[in-house]
Formats: sequence, structure tokens, C-alpha cells
Amino acid sequence: MIQPWPALLLCLLLGYVGVHPAVQADVERAAVRQIPLRSHSLSSPFLDSDMQSRYFEFGEDTIVRADQYIRLTSDRQAQSGWLFSRMPMTATNWMMEIEFKIHGLGHLHGDGMAIWLTEERAKPGKVFGHTDNFNGLGIFIDTYKNSRPGVVFPYVMAMLGNSSVSYDQDHDGKDNEMAGCSARGIRGTDTVPKKIRMTYYQDTSLKVELQYKAENEWTECFETEAFKLPQTAYLGFSAHTGELTDNHDIISVNSYNLHMRQNTGSSRSSDRGSKAQAKPYNPGGDKERGSWRWFLLKIVLFAIVVVGGYVGYTMYRASNRGSRF
Ligand SMILES: *[C@@H]1O[C@H](CO)[C@@H](O)[C@H](O)[C@H]1NC(C)=O
Repeated sequence: MIQPWPALLLCLLLGYVGVHPAVQADVERAAVRQIPLRSHSLSSPFLDSDMQSRYFEFGEDTIVRADQYIRLTSDRQAQSGWLFSRMPMTATNWMMEIEFKIHGLGHLHGDGMAIWLTEERAKPGKVFGHTDNFNGLGIFIDTYKNSRPGVVFPYVMAMLGNSSVSYDQDHDGKDNEMAGCSARGIRGTDTVPKKIRMTYYQDTSLKVELQYKAENEWTECFETEAFKLPQTAYLGFSAHTGELTDNHDIISVNSYNLHMRQNTGSSRSSDRGSKAQAKPYNPGGDKERGSWRWFLLKIVLFAIVVVGGYVGYTMYRASNRGSRF
């Protein structure tokens, strides 16, 4: 004979299991919050009243036009400039959007600029104006092809340094390339604002997208495997010119901490990296979702107790009846 109570229990359990993934997907969608990182963002007028920047420092040939840009190199030979955050990046997962402009009057242009997340800061050198044998990440926007047959320039590439590898200057970084793409049209002064967007999840990947074909049209450049940045990594920008020249301008930098919501009780891998961080401020929505699941769990537990009691009671009566016969 089929007992009605166990069947009901099964239904309840299936109901819980069935609902669960839907709840999970909902949490997934709402899981990432973008929190602006002022310490790693920049926009006009760049400087405060003391002609200083609270969060950034610059040097060598870098000049600031408060209403327009920070110019890492001017359109002249043998220039080298840098711009670095004063504070290291503290976000485990982050997103950055950088608007820049690379332009000049000559027929041949160079050499390009770089975006850095390195242990070293404000250390001029020969890799697009920053030091070689760096520890951390370099993203190069290389505008002049020295020697890379079959590759269209400008070329955007990522290199991960560990203090002991040198930049492969002779082959435009071919030996160091973690990932890269050609981006014909990324330099110049046409009406499309040139932007690079980097999205980094420590446990997942770094994705680099470019805007240069049309406004609000993002072209994926590459997505890497997961990798870790140095514990202390500063955000920087640098550029240099040699015989060939260009202006390399930073127009704006917008950085965001990508915060995983942590109070869902799940063990998604993306949560691991951010465990050590301070709890984000927590609007009511999550608590509601959490308490709702807890409520469901309590119903199931209650059902188990009731069913257990009923089964026990039935067995007790059956055995009593048995003993009477
Ligand atoms: C640094 O990276 C290079 C190339 O990937 C590797 O050969 C070398 O062993 C690494 N050095 C250290 C100290 O990890």
C-alpha cells in the first residue's frame, strides 16, 4: 500500500530541489555590483587647486592639460612619460574603462603606450616608458611594427611578467604574449572615442574589449585564462617615442570594484577570491531572498518531523495490533 505521507514528503523535497536552481540563477544575475573606485579613476580637470592629484602621480615628459588630457608623450622624438596610482589596487575583481587618444602629424607613428598593474610604480624604462622585468600585468597598445611578420598593427597584447622575464623588444613582444589582437583604427582623431575596457576576475579571466569602430560598439580583443596579480599592484600608464612620434593622451579612467554578493550561502567559485574582503554594504534584497530559502527549509524540516511522527505512530499501532492477535 502506498502511504500518502511519504509521497507528500517526496513532493515537498522535489519542490525544494526544483525551486533551488531558479533561486540560484536569480542570485547569479544580481551577484556582481560595480562600486566606483575613486582611488583608481581620473577625469578632467585631473588636478586639484594645488596642481596635484590626490590619487595619481606623473613624471618624465608627462604633461597635464586640465581641461583635456594627460599627455604621456608629445608628438616629438625620444619622449617618455608615466602616470601611476599612488595606492595599490585592492579590489580582487575589477573593471576599468580607459579613454585615450593616440595621434600625431607624421606619416609614421610610434611607439605606443601601455597600461600597467605592476608591483613597480613610477619606474621609467624601455618597455613603453616603464621598467623591464616588471612583476605583474602589462597591456600594450603597440602602434609601430618592428618585426612581427603577418601581424596587422596597431596591435594590442597582454604580457604577464614575473620579475625575471624581459620584454621581447626585437619581435614586438611575441615571446611574451599571453593574448592579443589587431586593432586597425585604434589610433587617430576621428569622431569615435577610443576606449579599452578590461574586466578582471581573479578566479576566471581577464577580458579586454576595445571601442574604436563606432561609439558604444565594443569589439572583444581577447579573454585570458585565470591568473593572479601581485599582492601589491599599482595602476599605471606609460608611453614612449623614439625616432617615430605620437601624442599619447589619457582622457579618462573609470575603475570599478566588482563585488560578489556573499550572503547567498552558495559556494560558487567566484566567491572565493573576495572572501577576505570587507563585507559590502548590504541593501535589503538579499536578506529577503535568504530568509525565504530558510523559510522553505523550515517547512521541509517540519514535514520530516510530522512524517516521522506519523510513521512512528503507525508502526507502534501496527505492532500493538500484531501482539493482540
Ligand atoms: C618567469 O616566467 C618565465 C617564463 O614564463 C619562466 O621561464 C620562469 O621560470 C619564471 N620565473 C620565476 C621566478 O617564476
